[in-house]
Amino acid sequence: MSDIVVKVEGLGKQYHIGGPQERYKTMRDTLTNAALYPMRVMQSLSGSRHSNGNGRNSESFWALKDVSFEIGRGEVVGVIGRNGAGKSTLLKVLSRITEPTTGYIDVYGNVGSLLEVGTGFHPELTGRENIYLNGAILGMPRTEVERNFDEIVEFAEVQRFLDTPVKRYSSGMYMRLAFAVAVHMKPEVLVIDEVLAVGDAEFQKKCFNKMQEVSRGGRTILFVSHNMAAIRSICNRGLIMQSGRLIEQGDINSVVDTYLAQTNQQQVQQINCETNSFKVDEVQIYATYGSVIKTFDSVEIRVKFTAKMDILDPGLYVGILTFDYQRVAGLDFKDFSSVSSIKAGEQAELGFSIAELPLLPGTYQLEVYLKDMASLAIELIPTTFPFDIVETPVYGSRKLESWNGYVGLKVYPYVLSNKPVGSVTAQETLRGKGETTK
Ligand SMILES: Nc1ncnc2c1ncn2[C@@H]1O[C@H](COP(=O)(O)OP(=O)(O)OP(=O)(O)O)[C@@H](O)[C@H]1O
Ligand SMILES: [Mg+2]
Repeated sequence: MSDIVVKVEGLGKQYHIGGPQERYKTMRDTLTNAALYPMRVMQSLSGSRHSNGNGRNSESFWALKDVSFEIGRGEVVGVIGRNGAGKSTLLKVLSRITEPTTGYIDVYGNVGSLLEVGTGFHPELTGRENIYLNGAILGMPRTEVERNFDEIVEFAEVQRFLDTPVKRYSSGMYMRLAFAVAVHMKPEVLVIDEVLAVGDAEFQKKCFNKMQEVSRGGRTILFVSHNMAAIRSICNRGLIMQSGRLIEQGDINSVVDTYLAQTNQQQVQQINCETNSFKVDEVQIYATYGSVIKTFDSVEIRVKFTAKMDILDPGLYVGILTFDYQRVAGLDFKDFSSVSSIKAGEQAELGFSIAELPLLPGTYQLEVYLKDMASLAIELIPTTFPFDIVETPVYGSRKLESWNGYVGLKVYPYVLSNKPVGSVTAQETLRGKGETTK
């Protein structure tokens, strides 16, 4: 237990709707406090108990309720949950932007946070001034800030705007600088809320790589995102928040699978429909191992049916279609095997095992035909069966949209050069980047 960096116990946060608005502590407030009481920012937030007595006439609700967990040094924890689940509130309490109503958080070390735009920098100050202020807030000596200064500016790519007040920055520029400051100030605990989504794809990738580098350096990260591919590739542990409560925690892949399985459609579909010769009992598509289907998972397709008449030469065709009915693939059972005849009233089950289904995340559907090749009966089941491929890292942590097409390819990049490519050598690129994460 000695290496616990964050300990959260019975944490609750109550808001009063319609009552007096709570004003968040902005960087300005924290800054003023830091200037007046520089030691305060070094203290751990311990036993902070806030009783809010001003909401007697207003309706109150709990944005966080009875949340307890611990995080060890060097853990990278993904916090997931639907909109309004309490994720940002949790990070705000952790970053001391708002106080808890019940319970406490102990943080052993300083916290660097990157929260929603607006809670980070002082808008009237320039990029340069904000870098120094953030350093001060994290209790960093000026010399230390100076040592990191060039790296921050280079990472954020804001050289030309260093002496411009940050209120004139675009949201992307603001986020770049805020991220660069948060990671380069080397806080023990780094707290990042979604904001990365504001950056362009290239900068997002740079941020994800940086986060991986930071975590390998032994620092602790709490990361909130709706990008499950990023969460899976960066984090090792996950927390699921639901209506202010922590409902599950554990290994990141199983936590994300549980979360996505809750929100996804049922993949096993009991149906009650018939064609001329068949009654269809069940159509299923599922991952051989696991509760959700991810790109390159091995997958089973099963069609259970009852013959309404003797079927001498049974057959099955399954089409995989996109949600807007583009055909991605088609599988005819006859290409692989034959089955013996089925008598009227008998039930049978046919299907396919697919080794590595390459579909990218998205919603697809199965189209199913049952056949009797002896009588040339080819009968379409008059409904399709939707299923989801959930988000997973395919080419790194970038979220792949349908714009990238429907299938993932296992690719090994080729570079004709013996000069370094980016920060890695061509050799390393060949070995490392082509590997798809499972
Ligand atoms: N200052 C506030 N005053 C009143 N209610 C608030 C305040 N801040 C947040 N809430 C409410 O608390 C709940 C949790 O909000 P929170 O921002 O933590 O959710 P979230 O999990 O981060 O959601 P999202 O995924 O949309 O970012 C929501 O119902 C939200 O409306
Ligand atoms: Mg949020």
